[in-house]
Amino acid sequence: MVTDLTSCYTSPAGKEFTLLAGRYAGISPASRVLDIGCGYGAGICNLAAEFRCRCTAVDTSEPNLTIARSRAEELRISHLIDFSQADINDIAPPEDPYDLVLAEGGLLSLLGRQAGLDISSGFLKHRGWLAFSDLVLLTEERKVPAEVLHIYDNKYYHYETEASYRQLLKNAGFEPHIITLVPPSGWDNYYAHMARRLEDSEGFFADRRVKELFHREIDVFYRLEGFRYIGYLFGLVRYEKSV
Ligand SMILES: C[S@@+](CC[C@H](N)C(=O)[O-])C[C@H]1O[C@@H](n2cnc3c(N)ncnc32)[C@H](O)[C@@H]1O
Repeated sequence: MVTDLTSCYTSPAGKEFTLLAGRYAGISPASRVLDIGCGYGAGICNLAAEFRCRCTAVDTSEPNLTIARSRAEELRISHLIDFSQADINDIAPPEDPYDLVLAEGGLLSLLGRQAGLDISSGFLKHRGWLAFSDLVLLTEERKVPAEVLHIYDNKYYHYETEASYRQLLKNAGFEPHIITLVPPSGWDNYYAHMARRLEDSEGFFADRRVKELFHREIDVFYRLEGFRYIGYLFGLVRYEKSV
């Protein structure tokens, strides 16, 4: 069921998870937060509006950043967020590291999970927090219908399971505090947003091939009950490796 009609996340976890991360991590106006791959700015705007923290948001896509910047202006929080167009791989870790890094919407898979975790820890204070959300397989690969594996490009991303993700986090020096699967409403909010975007006549979703791809993804997810085989994992983990 759709529970957030205004969501502009391009991933299934959404506002409640971002705010949970902020609350649990004790984010305050004195805290510094980095959003890797901010997309339309949903996550970082929710954090800045709720906690008045100092934020940096990075994305490779200028069209996405344009939408994110105007969202921040509408919410009157643009003074709290420094948006910049960059590939996170090209940014050197700052002298003053962050209290919380957001990597929502499969950023860790997009960066390569091991590399993504190393990049995230490089930006964090010792005992800083990482909030991530990412696609995982809920069962053995051989039990997942080929069409479902294909639509999420498993051949390229080789998705983890929750257990293997936990192992990766541990090896990279992160201690799990919250690890949970996103409920069905998270997927419904995400696909409701994607369905709205398919009406776009400008930007990323205006492209006919993008529209076809998302039509197919939504169809496969609901027709083949993709939620039986794939899940979206949300994690709030703390970087514990000593420096
Ligand atoms: C699936 S979207 C997630 C957006 C947002 N975090 C959310 O959950 O709604 C992934 C975003 O990451 C950006 N991105 C992908 N690779 C990146 C990189 N190497 N550095 C910075 N941004 C990146 C894309 O442009 C896109 O906006």
